[in-house]
Order: sequence, then structure tokens, then C-alpha cells
Amino acid sequence: MKTTTAFLLPIGLSAISTTVDAATVLAHFMVQNSYAYSVSTWQEDMTSAQQVGIDGFALNWIPPYCSSTDAHHNLAWQADQIANAFTAAEQQDFKLTLSFDMSYGVGSNCPTGLAWNETYMSSIISNYTNSSAAYKWNNQMLVTTYAGEKYGNAFFQYLKQTLSAQDIHISIAPGFTSYAYAAQNEAAAGQANAFMSEFDALDGFLNWQSWPLNKKLNNTGDIDVALQSTLKAAGKTGPYIMTISPWQYKDLNDGNPEDSWVSYSDYLFPSRFESAVSTVHPDIIELQTWNDWGESHYLRDLPASFSSGPASATLGTMQNYVNNQSHSAWRIIADYYINWYKSGSPPDITQDQVVYWYRTHPKDATCNGGGSVRNAQLPADAVFAWALVRNNATVTMSAGQNAFWQFNANGTGPQMGMVPFPDDLGDGILPEVSISNGGSSITGNASTYITSDCDYMNFNPVVGLVGPGDKVGATNQKVLG
Ligand SMILES: *[C@@H]1O[C@H](CO)[C@@H](O)[C@H](O)[C@H]1NC(C)=O
Ligand SMILES: *[C@@H]1O[C@H](CO)[C@@H](O)[C@H](O)[C@H]1NC(C)=O
Ligand SMILES: *[C@@H]1O[C@H](CO)[C@@H](O)[C@H](O)[C@H]1NC(C)=O
Ligand SMILES: *[C@@H]1O[C@H](CO)[C@@H](O)[C@H](O)[C@H]1NC(C)=O
Ligand SMILES: *[C@@H]1O[C@H](CO)[C@@H](O)[C@H](O)[C@H]1NC(C)=O
Ligand SMILES: *[C@@H]1O[C@H](CO)[C@@H](O)[C@H](O)[C@H]1NC(C)=O
Ligand SMILES: *[C@@H]1O[C@H](CO)[C@@H](O)[C@H](O)[C@H]1NC(C)=O
Ligand SMILES: *[C@@H]1O[C@H](CO)[C@@H](O)[C@H](O)[C@H]1NC(C)=O
Repeated sequence: MKTTTAFLLPIGLSAISTTVDAATVLAHFMVQNSYAYSVSTWQEDMTSAQQVGIDGFALNWIPPYCSSTDAHHNLAWQADQIANAFTAAEQQDFKLTLSFDMSYGVGSNCPTGLAWNETYMSSIISNYTNSSAAYKWNNQMLVTTYAGEKYGNAFFQYLKQTLSAQDIHISIAPGFTSYAYAAQNEAAAGQANAFMSEFDALDGFLNWQSWPLNKKLNNTGDIDVALQSTLKAAGKTGPYIMTISPWQYKDLNDGNPEDSWVSYSDYLFPSRFESAVSTVHPDIIELQTWNDWGESHYLRDLPASFSSGPASATLGTMQNYVNNQSHSAWRIIADYYINWYKSGSPPDITQDQVVYWYRTHPKDATCNGGGSVRNAQLPADAVFAWALVRNNATVTMSAGQNAFWQFNANGTGPQMGMVPFPDDLGDGILPEVSISNGGSSITGNASTYITSDCDYMNFNPVVGLVGPGDKVGATNQKVLG
């Protein structure tokens, strides 16, 4: 029997004395994956999100006529789904913001006239200004973006002026990736200053980069602290939005190494959440994402089918990386920290739960399909566990011949452990995780094999749960014990 190290995640004592002014949690929602939604599908998603404390969705969409590659083009239907979303949200006491994917722009991948323009954007913003579901920051509608630097300051200034002429006031917090990328390598405060001098029309900032960029490090909140404090010190009144994501793996299957990469995400979700609650205290947390299947950072339940039905999506062969790879149990981690973020102190632990996740092939496996993956050497070949227990307990993890690795957990807060994949996977192994507490013990056996005999190289993990899973609906996941 071996003992694995227990990592005690630091309890943020500073959080206890901090007054929480605003604490909103949004989840980034890919409207492109809602083609077959009805109002009731939206409501189901919103209920599921609300169960773990998510207040709203940031509705990400691309210019309606810009894509010739999407199977559902033209994409004007996205505006109809946004209308359905508002209808549902108004009935659910849920909030929505519009998040414009402005990586699509004239000169990049949209023909002239088909990129975003101020007339269309102001029209859709004004259409929802009176909706009870419109999320307001300081009584102004919040608008966010993904990228958009190339549109320039004057574009946003004109958009705001067009709307304020109609007495509609918006607060824009752009997800400008160039500053966020640079902040990972250079002084973050300098990037915040550069952003403010180049875009004085804008109000807040969304730090898109929740993932470490091509590096093996735990992405904490240091950069967020620097960005947020620099913006606030300069008197910016828009929100600072900190993004938090559980994972990053994308493979477009097009043979281009630029389109296939993994980010070091082994401990990403709990470590960024810890930073959010203990040091950053951002105005808004945005979870990346609710339903981005293609980048492996979805938190939503898997749809029953990707080929038909309400949440079906056109993934092509990328579907091979997502099939049966449930992430639902990650919402238990989200629930715990969201509660903490909103109340300012660590929540009481009322039940024993272990969330665990693992990739299904060792990184050096030679699979039949799937090309080479950039940063493939960064993740550890291991099963990771995050334990939340009421009292002293032992968490035991087995991965084939690496049997009965243990770590201690206790009621002081979440603790993490891991067990590496064994060298010999034989015909494949199913990890086992159990919690023993005095005389009683609960066990969860995973249902997805770790194997070197693989059809597709896949860096998207499966996520399992030991213990009660009522808040995550226990749909599409095996909850035992
Ligand atoms: C809880 O567990 C951590 C990590 O193993 C340990 O450092 C700490 O002393 C424990 N606290 C109590 C009260 O047992
Ligand atoms: C603005 O965008 C909308 C939606 O894509 C499009 O229908 C309209 O033609 C565009 N207007 C201009 C002037 O480009
Ligand atoms: C805004 O609402 C008007 C009136 O219902 C509609 O004609 C228009 O298409 C809407 N704008 C957008 C961009 O959806
Ligand atoms: C929103 O409501 C206000 C107050 O009722 C009204 O004056 C305004 O015209 C409405 N705006 C839109 C775009 O419907
Ligand atoms: C990330 O944090 C975990 C838990 O504290 C630790 O075991 C791991 O070594 C860290 N990773 C890196 C690259 O520092
Ligand atoms: C997903 O799992 C189900 C039941 O465990 C199985 O029947 C199905 O074949 C799996 N689908 C894929 C694509 O692996
Ligand atoms: C948990 O373990 C700690 C340290 O070993 C011990 O002091 C404490 O009494 C234990 N608590 C319970 C409830 O057994
Ligand atoms: C998990 O697997 C182990 C070993 O195969 C078995 O003893 C145990 O009963 C299983 N637990 C559950 C809850 O199925």
C-alpha cells in the first residue's frame, strides 16, 4: 500500500473579512450549439446551472452571415435562439448578457459587410434592454466580447453613442485576447495600462486566458489581481471578469498542428477557483464554458445524442473526443466555490463527495486516429481527485496495478490527491475511488477504461463522482455509493 501526498488547498482567510460587493457567476454559452433548442431546453439548462449557483449565461455568437463552414449557415437563426433564451430566462429569474465573438472581423475571416456592425449590434442590444433577464452592471447592460481588438476604439465608442442616443447605457468588458496572452508573459499591469490607453471607450475587462499558455504551471490568480487592481486604480467603472475553466483540449482533426493542443489543466479548476475566492475577489466570474464541446471545457450534461435532439451539435469527427466523456460532476466543484465566492466564507460541508477526473489514454499511446497534439507532454498520466468530506476520512484510489493509493481528507476544506496510471494497462483498466470514514465506506467505479488501445488519441478527460450527486442531476454519469 502506498500513500499519496494530500494537497491541502489553502483556505483563504482574507476572504472571511472581505465584504462582497458584487459576486455574479456567468457561464459562457456557445449559441452555435443551440440550433435545435426549444424554450424548454433553455429552461432545463438554466435550471441545471442555477442548481450550482450560476446566475446567468454569456451568450457567445458569431456574425450571422459570416460562416460558410457551419452546417447551419447562415447563422441568422442565432438571433431566434437568443430570443428563446430571453423568453426562458425571464421565466426562470435567470440573467443573460450578449457576448459577441469579434474574432470574426473584416480582414480576418469575414467578407466585407458580413462582420459585426454597430447598427446590427445596437439593434439587438436595444431589443433586450427592457428584459428582466438582461444582466445589468451599475444599471447598465453588460456587453462582453471574445477578441475584437481589430475593430478599434472608435467602433465601440460609436456603438455606445448610438445606444445612449436612445437612452440605453451599456458597460463593455471586452475579452481582448492579445492583452490577456501578453499578460501571461509580461507585466500584467502594463498590459492593463496599454489596454486602457488604446481603448478609452471601454469600461471593464474580461481576462479570457484562464488556461496557462503553453506552459506547465498552475494558473493561479496573480495576473487577475494585477489586471483588476490596475483598472480599478485608474478609475474604470466596468466590471473585472475573471474566467475559470476546468480544462482545455482542442483538436480540429484537420492535420494542422496549430489546431490541436492541450493546456496543462490537471489541477486547473480547483486552483483557479481557490485564487478567485481567496485573493482575486473578481466582480464577476465567467465559467468557460457551459457547452463548448470542441474545446473540452463543457460543464453541461452531454446531450443524449449529438446527431439529433435538442442539444445536438455539428461536431463532425470531433465528436469522437466528446462521446461519453461526461463532465457533469465538475459542477460539484463549481457549486462549492461559487457558494464561497458569494458568501465570502467557506461553506459548511454537509456530505462526503469525491470528484475525480482522468484522461482515457496515456500521452504516449499510439492510437489509430487523432494526430499529434501540441503540449502533449504537459499533463500527467494520472487520476486526480478532489475530496470534500465532513470529518476525517481516507480516500483510496486505484488505477490497475497502482492499487490503494491513499490520502487523508478532513472537514477543513477540499483536499486533492492522485494516482498515476500504471505502466502496464493490459487490456484497459477502470479506476476505483472510495471514501472511508470510520466503519463505513462508499465506492465509485468509473465506467470508462484507460487504455493504450485507442481509436482516437483524446486528451479530453472523463469526470466521475463518489457520493451523492443530486445537484448535478446524476444524468449521464455513474454515481455509485
Ligand atoms: C486536515 O488535513 C490536512 C492535509 O492533510 C492537514 O494538514 C491538517 O492538519 C488536517 N487538519 C485536521 C484538523 O485534521
Ligand atoms: C450589419 O450586419 C447585419 C447582420 O449581419 C447585416 O444584415 C447588415 O447587412 C449589416 N449592415 C451593413 C451596413 O453591413
Ligand atoms: C429587434 O426587434 C425588432 C422588432 O421586433 C426586429 O425587427 C429586429 O430584427 C430585432 N433585431 C435583431 C438584431 O434581432
Ligand atoms: C424600454 O422601456 C422604456 C420605459 O418604459 C421605454 O421608454 C423604452 O422605449 C423601452 N425601450 C425599448 C427599446 O423598448
Ligand atoms: C499544481 O498543483 C498541484 C497541487 O498542489 C501540485 O501537485 C502540482 O505539482 C502543481 N503543478 C505544477 C506544474 O506546479
Ligand atoms: C456510450 O456509452 C453507452 C453506454 O455506456 C454505450 O452504449 C455507447 O456505445 C457509448 N458510445 C460511444 C460512442 O462510445
Ligand atoms: C481528526 O484527526 C485529527 C488529527 O489526527 C484529530 O485531532 C481529530 O480529533 C480528528 N477528528 C475527528 C472528528 O475524529
Ligand atoms: C468496484 O470494483 C471493485 C473491484 O472490482 C468491487 O469490489 C466493488 O464492489 C465495486 N464497487 C461498486 C460500487 O460497484
